[in-house]
Amino acid sequence: MAVRRLAAEQPESFEFTERNLAWAKKVIDRYPAGRQASAVIPLLWRAQEQNEGWVSEPAIRYVADLLDMPNIRVLEVATFYTMFQLQPVGKKAHIQVCGTTPCQLRGSEDLIKICKSRIAQHMHEISEDGNFSWEEVECLGACVNAPMVQIFKDTYEDLTEESFNQLIDDAAGKEVTPGPQNGRRFAMAEGGQTTLTEIDDNTKGETPVPQVVDGAENASHSFAGAAD
Ligand code: FES
Repeated sequence: MAVRRLAAEQPESFEFTERNLAWAKKVIDRYPAGRQASAVIPLLWRAQEQNEGWVSEPAIRYVADLLDMPNIRVLEVATFYTMFQLQPVGKKAHIQVCGTTPCQLRGSEDLIKICKSRIAQHMHEISEDGNFSWEEVECLGACVNAPMVQIFKDTYEDLTEESFNQLIDDAAGKEVTPGPQNGRRFAMAEGGQTTLTEIDDNTKGETPVPQVVDGAENASHSFAGAAD
């Protein structure tokens, strides 16, 4: 993984909008007195969303002050997790391409070639129109649906060159549904059920439908949806 450093150019200051500050206070209140540091990741994430997709140095200090943490502790978190961007990113999408072995074996190198030709030659460069940037990252935990990419908080899986090109086209302005892009349901076997096919239940051999938690299934996503 590349060395992760703060951007050379930083804004003067950062503070949450009134709405985000009210939200942050509620998150902090979930934790017992003295344990407010547990809120560091959600607060950094909200700061990133408010700050057009990246975490600035003033934002790190601001979150540290809110949580009564040393700045260095928040800096450690922001620089450790690749979910936090440390420099400006494309306005429509920052595409994180998983390049770890299962995704590599299933075509991630082809996706990276597309990023280089359509977005910018090098990781973290912003495209000429300002809308896109990309980077290669380590395993994002969706190996069974390899190859995959993450754009802001959503993952797009089971990609081919064709569907990835379509994803980039759509990211410029259309609603896109996260998850598998080949019609597969979650991580179920491609081509249908291969075991327990003789169980006599109400599904009559159809693939059972899993419980969906908290409306998480296949919500369409507009890429320009940063929190204010
Ligand atoms: S190897 Fe790509 S998501 Fe795990």
